[in-house]
Amino acid sequence: MRTIDVCLSPDMMHLYPVVDHAVVVVDILRATSCMTTAFAYGIDTIAPFAKLEHCLAMKVNGFYTAGERDGKKVDGFDLGNSPFEYQDPKLKGAKIAFTTTNGTQAIVKSLGASEIIIGSFLNLTAVANHLKTLPQNILVVCAGWKGKFNLEDTLFAGALVEKLKGEVNPACDAPLAAQALYNQAKSNMVGFLSNSSHVKRLAKLNIHKDITFCLTEDTYSVVPVLRDNVLRKIN
Ligand code: MLT
Repeated sequence: MRTIDVCLSPDMMHLYPVVDHAVVVVDILRATSCMTTAFAYGIDTIAPFAKLEHCLAMKVNGFYTAGERDGKKVDGFDLGNSPFEYQDPKLKGAKIAFTTTNGTQAIVKSLGASEIIIGSFLNLTAVANHLKTLPQNILVVCAGWKGKFNLEDTLFAGALVEKLKGEVNPACDAPLAAQALYNQAKSNMVGFLSNSSHVKRLAKLNIHKDITFCLTEDTYSVVPVLRDNVLRKIN
């Protein structure tokens, strides 16, 4: 049987080989939730970057520039990191260069995997169904916060372990811990996360509605996948 593992922070990536793995990158608050929303609203391409200057350089190639640092929109960028900004009909067909504090860093650190998939609660079942069709072992990479563990990405990893129960075996204790946390939290994830670090950080920036939105399961059925260094939806 295939296995599923969970890397609880990108700083632990050295412990998890990505080669020959299907990697699911998750940054619930809010990078991968934004990306999922963007594709659900018809955005054509997202090019993820670790560095601001590489992202900005894409402007001359006709890309919108998007993302944040420390939760705040970057000066001079076209778009920030709220999923609601990507529900704009005028962005249909657009190409977006994206950089965020943790989410796009986790994508870049996962390069070399045989498949890189963008996961969020918004497309949980669609991602699980796609993973069922693949032959590879699975690794969920939690974006965390600047190398530290966070609860919301771990809850998503646990939700995926739960969805794939019976189809894949947990590779170590991290998927088991994530699954147990998700089962404890799932009836009230907003409440469970009320004291979590990034919820508090976003609350200080007066960003409340993004939190509830990003914790809603199965709003969309898109599955964004990285091919040739850009993300596109495969269904
Ligand atoms: C990140 O990539 O660190 C986040 O998406 C931060 C945020 O909430 O804007």
